[in-house]
Amino acid sequence: MIDIPQHSLNDGTKLPALGLGTWPMDDAEAEEAVAGAIGLGFRLVDTATNYRNETGVGRGVARAGVPREEIVLTTKLPGRHHGYEETLASFEESRRRLGVDYVDLYLIHWPLPRVGRFVDSWRAMIKLREDGLVRSIGVSNFTAEHLDRLEKETGVLPSVNQIELHPLFPQEELRAFHEAKGVRTESWSPLGRGSAILADPAVVSVAEAQGVTPGQVVLRWHLQLGAVPIPKSSSPLRQRANLDVFGFELGPAQMAAIAHRTHRRLGGDPEVHEEF
Ligand SMILES: NC(=O)c1ccc[n+]([C@@H]2O[C@H](COP(=O)([O-])OP(=O)(O)OC[C@H]3O[C@@H](n4cnc5c(N)ncnc54)[C@H](OP(=O)(O)O)[C@@H]3O)[C@@H](O)[C@H]2O)c1
Repeated sequence: MIDIPQHSLNDGTKLPALGLGTWPMDDAEAEEAVAGAIGLGFRLVDTATNYRNETGVGRGVARAGVPREEIVLTTKLPGRHHGYEETLASFEESRRRLGVDYVDLYLIHWPLPRVGRFVDSWRAMIKLREDGLVRSIGVSNFTAEHLDRLEKETGVLPSVNQIELHPLFPQEELRAFHEAKGVRTESWSPLGRGSAILADPAVVSVAEAQGVTPGQVVLRWHLQLGAVPIPKSSSPLRQRANLDVFGFELGPAQMAAIAHRTHRRLGGDPEVHEEF
């Protein structure tokens, strides 16, 4: 079994360097995939209220039979529950569906700046952490301006910002901001959803030179940026390959060759995207 290195977060907790995404799995698929992935060595699992699979994810974690404290279980607050009391109630529903006493990492899924209530939700997240119901609190899809607002209004910065990050959208500026502030970057759609990135000639050529697959090259690129990729796979074969990325290293020229000059999002723009 592969032993995954860990990062220390700004709140003193540990975050595995790579995890498993579970969107768009349903409950049954998530249970299988999560139990299998933990058996292979995954210790970080990512879900969200809006993936509608927290029950399956929780069952998969329980079925894997690994001590609870070894698992970093992540879920996310949906847009329809922004607000202080709403966040506390929504968290309780997530915790019940997951079937756990505490959640390791709780994230605000999207900032929804037009709704304008993410700071209220953040205060509730701080309370959940103080109450020991959540180990670490973070956000997802927040811009530098949104992070600044949290810091100015509450004095507490997130431990993690989970953002769209892959070679088509390398997010240099936001990553540098995270680094300066001590916020760990997590990468969603790290493989670009298995899209053209894996067939990109630059990626394929690095893969050939390293004797690994294009997916492994892209995941290694994330690790060397210090970002935590959470590739989704329901296939035990690809889960195993996605874990097997700690035995080789990309050189500086290879790192530079992988990221594209033209930046292109696959998902929503945090300034306007609304996910309720
Ligand atoms: N915070 C947010 O707003 C947000 C948004 C999107 C996603 N996410 C999270 O991030 C996770 C990952 O993102 P994602 O699912 O969009 O994209 P992804 O992980 O980049 O790509 C997943 C796709 O790639 C395939 N795949 C996995 N490993 C592969 C490999 N080694 N070689 C070739 N294909 C491979 C998967 O198929 P198989 O299953 O068949 O292997 C699946 O179709 C999600 O599952 C979710 O947990 C968060």
